[in-house]
Amino acid sequence: MRRSIENLIPYNPGKSLEELERELGKPVIKLSANESLWGPSPKVEEYLRGIFNNLMYYPDGAVTELKTTLASYWKLHTNNFCVGNGTDEIISLLFAAYLNPGDEVIVPLPTFSSYELSATVYDAKIKFIKQEDLVFNLSEIEKQMNKKTKMVFLCNPNNPTGTYFTHKELEAFLELVSSETLVILDEAYCHYSTTPDFPCAKEILKKYNNVIVLRTFSKVYALAALRVGYGVASSHIIGELEKVRSPFNVNSMAQVAAKIALEDENYTNKIIKETVKEREWLTKELKAMGLIVLPSQSNFVMVKITNAQLIADKLLNEGILVRNMSSFDLPEWLRISVAPHKYMQQLIACFKEIIEQ
Ligand SMILES: Cc1ncc(COP(=O)(O)O)c(C=O)c1O
Repeated sequence: MRRSIENLIPYNPGKSLEELERELGKPVIKLSANESLWGPSPKVEEYLRGIFNNLMYYPDGAVTELKTTLASYWKLHTNNFCVGNGTDEIISLLFAAYLNPGDEVIVPLPTFSSYELSATVYDAKIKFIKQEDLVFNLSEIEKQMNKKTKMVFLCNPNNPTGTYFTHKELEAFLELVSSETLVILDEAYCHYSTTPDFPCAKEILKKYNNVIVLRTFSKVYALAALRVGYGVASSHIIGELEKVRSPFNVNSMAQVAAKIALEDENYTNKIIKETVKEREWLTKELKAMGLIVLPSQSNFVMVKITNAQLIADKLLNEGILVRNMSSFDLPEWLRISVAPHKYMQQLIACFKEIIEQ
């Protein structure tokens, strides 16, 4: 066993939806993992049927068609993309490709847990930088960097807060960061951003060779079950990741589904519009109850409430699963995924009833 994993606790994915429903004896609305309950483009289902005749073959190890579609979407070359079994795999590949003994990694907190998990497995020295007001302060983060800083993880909009930093703030940061430091810009939720000052990843990539942008098909494209995400960066960075990627890491269904989902822009735009509308409605309703809600640019909102765990338990009794934030060291907060209106109405009705009890 590697010493770095001696005290590592395996990731706890929680109970499956099926198990929860069996236990409760009723259907559960899952609003705990920032998935898109609108589901994927109907075109995806149509194309997936074609795959069943070819299940005996290995997937395309070079992910040719999806990379070609990505290249045209981003107006870049196919060698600017590394596709993974979820963005989670790309995060792990970054460590496999880049981390040497003694290297430091910066992880602002609170943020997505995979960065810490992979960093621990690869024995990185992690410097956590707590963001006091739950918004990333890039100039403060930059001040904590030094010659040993090999990577810095910036999630934008951030999970679990939904807050964001601007293009201007990011550029000012990148101007100061050493070109030897890899800046990982995790944009899993960027599609839901409606603010004009949100970073333009294409421009950032054109200007800075030490940046990799991460995107996933698990959120707005609603393909979380198929596990597909990617990194986009200079061909040099991608070349290093390709060296450590296992040969057939992305299955055939995931490759086809992601390509079709990316091409169906009308559907994606429709889902973004609806999600944003529901996010604003949910925020307004929660605030009307006198609760503090963080301004979100994502497909979830974080709400502050005393007895958060008790409220989450009571909501679950009513068949609604939300995420208590104690694992992020925010025990007074709940994170709620935005979903179609009928679910949001049900959630708000239950919330009101529980609070008034
Ligand atoms: C910020 C962020 N990045 C990456 C991921 C993982 O994405 P994937 O499902 O592609 O592994 C998540 C999942 O919740 C996330 O919140």
